[in-house]
Amino acid sequence: MKTSGGSDEAKRRAGESAVEAVTDGEVVGLGTGSTAAHAIRRLGDRIDAGLDARGVPTSFASRELAVENGIPCLDLPEAIGPDGPGIDLAVDGADQVATGEGPADAVAGGALIKGGGAAHAREKLVDAAADRFLVVADPSKESPRLDRSVPVEVLPAGRTAVAEALRELGGEPTLRRAERKDGPVVTDNGNLVVDCAFGAIDAPASLAASLASIPGVVEHGLFVGLADEVHVGTESGVRVDA
Ligand code: 5RP
Repeated sequence: MKTSGGSDEAKRRAGESAVEAVTDGEVVGLGTGSTAAHAIRRLGDRIDAGLDARGVPTSFASRELAVENGIPCLDLPEAIGPDGPGIDLAVDGADQVATGEGPADAVAGGALIKGGGAAHAREKLVDAAADRFLVVADPSKESPRLDRSVPVEVLPAGRTAVAEALRELGGEPTLRRAERKDGPVVTDNGNLVVDCAFGAIDAPASLAASLASIPGVVEHGLFVGLADEVHVGTESGVRVDA
């Protein structure tokens, strides 16, 4: 599973802190990445100890880890369908979290960048469907203003047209390549990922709307107005921003 950013100990504290919010009978969205992996392992431990909870994975990787850790899993359509239990809370990582110290519009709604693990399309579906979305992060993810490249999942046939549209929006798109293979990253959904640099993002909600309107874009990694709490693991404890 991809690891990025700060120390693993800080990620562990954040992931485990968010899982303390799970109560008996709840359904939990299971994020993707190294911080969310700590949450999944901790949820498995709590289920071992008698907690009654189920998970809704956001990727093949998080499903595998959930199964390895004894977490009963539901698919998203099953969870939120007419007879489904719904999703009580989702616990998921982020590549960048706006801290609230930047200009008002740049942090409106607790803006995040996600998709470093190319799972942001399913992550957004699950995180948005949950009654509460708890972000888990280490301090290296925090920034007054979002300025990392925004991952954009694109239909393979739309790759060139989407890249052109991203340039028209002022971005610099780069097709994401697999680290150890000679070829592009292919998502769990069979699509490609373009990482698009925009510099500092002053109006994430407006950029999110523009990205969503490009034909061929399956999903982008700007998550605006979705997060309810951010659990930041430090070297000595956890800070929870609500
Ligand atoms: C995957 C994601 C991850 O949550 C994000 O990349 C953070 O990963 P990590 O916890 O390994 O730093 O958005 O698509």
